[in-house]
Amino acid sequence: MTVMRSFAALLLAALMPLAAMAQYLETTTHFAPRGMPGTDSLVVLVPEGLSDVSLPGWGAETTAQVNRALQAAEFDGSARQRVEILAPAGLPYERLITLGVGNPGELERPVAEEIGAALSVHINGTRAKVIELNASLISDAGDNSRLSAAIAHGVDLRNYRFDQLKSQPDARPAQTYHWVVSSVGDAQRQYNMLRAVAEGVFTARELTNLPGSNGYPAAFAEYALQTLAPLGVEVTILGPEEVLEAGMGSLYGVSQGSQHKAHLLIAHWRGSDDQPIALVGKGNTFDTGGYDLKTTSSILLMQGDKSGGAAVVGAVKALAGQQAAVNVVGVVPLSQNSISGEAILPGDVLRAGDGTTIEIGSTDAEGRLILADGIWYARDRYNPSVIVDIATLTGAKTTALGTDYSAIFSDYPELVDSMKLAGQMTDELVWQLPLGPYRGIIDSRIADIQNTGSPGAQAGAVFLQHFAADTPWLHIDMASQALLSSARGIHPAGGTGHGVRLLTEWVKIYAGVQ
Ligand code: BES
Ligand code: MN
Ligand code: ZN
Repeated sequence: MTVMRSFAALLLAALMPLAAMAQYLETTTHFAPRGMPGTDSLVVLVPEGLSDVSLPGWGAETTAQVNRALQAAEFDGSARQRVEILAPAGLPYERLITLGVGNPGELERPVAEEIGAALSVHINGTRAKVIELNASLISDAGDNSRLSAAIAHGVDLRNYRFDQLKSQPDARPAQTYHWVVSSVGDAQRQYNMLRAVAEGVFTARELTNLPGSNGYPAAFAEYALQTLAPLGVEVTILGPEEVLEAGMGSLYGVSQGSQHKAHLLIAHWRGSDDQPIALVGKGNTFDTGGYDLKTTSSILLMQGDKSGGAAVVGAVKALAGQQAAVNVVGVVPLSQNSISGEAILPGDVLRAGDGTTIEIGSTDAEGRLILADGIWYARDRYNPSVIVDIATLTGAKTTALGTDYSAIFSDYPELVDSMKLAGQMTDELVWQLPLGPYRGIIDSRIADIQNTGSPGAQAGAVFLQHFAADTPWLHIDMASQALLSSARGIHPAGGTGHGVRLLTEWVKIYAGVQ
């Protein structure tokens, strides 16, 4: 392993200690066959269609009061309904909360996660400390475990906080969530799998949330190393000289004008001996646009331009945390697109690792420049069976699809189908845009290709396709999905960690493991 650190990077690291080892959550989650002493709040999961809500041990008075209250609230157990009853008669709790789960057999993971997220927001607004979540009204054993784990996962996802830059952070949510389930082993096992996903999402959010001057290429790589190595992931970091020596002039060029030069992060989880699956993520740690400078307020969101790379780091972390039987190599080209007397100029020509010469139609189309070498490196050094890249690549994607769908591009129908399936499972939705007729749009008069063309999202895709050559490949454009200005569903405000859940599920679907 080669780890290169510049003096400036070391200095900055000393000023702003890396929080890689920090614990992301202060809450604790247990699964048990019965309740625990000290419980102050009881949450009952209620399927729709019950005539009366009651748990074993409740007296007639309790059952009567609770059901009168539920009637008054028009609670019928449909999914997402929630009623709180303070000081329930005959019970030793401050509050009783009923959570509607609809028809348990039909409740999908994303909805269960959202129910958990909404519950955690509510709980955080109370003084609840020890919460029993009782799932015993869900009679089907499979649903009992599955929904408990998914709701617990939703609680976790929403409770992440990015507070490392606050001198006096607010207290984090720190409740004990004590689940009463029918099969402790099964629920715990499913929760552990989702907890590994959550840890991957938190890592990606953390990397995304780092401001440009904190999350520069060497710092991003170091953070990934610190968080992945303990899980048995082989991490290799190429510094700027090694990037140049390997011929990756396209990756190098983007940050040649920055004090923070290019790095290439490789994170290899070898959970099987299969041919590797390559994930390549755009790690542009800040996008000023370069000499084609961004002149609108959109520049304020450009710390999020590393979120494709963050998603790859997070997915590799999740898969390693799950000990998944997959061979996956994450490759993250890292750059900082900024200006100085040494920066690339519009119209310059760069030579990529595979020898392709690239005319710079715009210095602001930097994502494809760094991904070109990331994709080539993955292909050349790891001979993967498939390459998926993910990037905040184009504003045109946002114009076309908005923020609820990522655009995907691929000539391989089985990749498109498996990615759509992963998208539905995780609610990280994807929509296919065409590649076929656009091959000529990046032709250049003076070089082999150029980095701009129209339509914009397709130009980015066909550019990347050139570097995937004949390896099966799919491109994900996740522009405008990296950051939220206010909390929503399972996401607190800030970095979403978008792509981690999608890629984690997709790798397992593609590799045929669960
Ligand atoms: N990082 C941006 C894309 C982006 C824009 C992401 C808005 C999230 C929100 C990318 O590097 C970029 O600047 N793309 C240009 C390409 C153009 C110059 C060909 C764009 O889409 O405007
Ligand atoms: Mn740009
Ligand atoms: Zn960019």
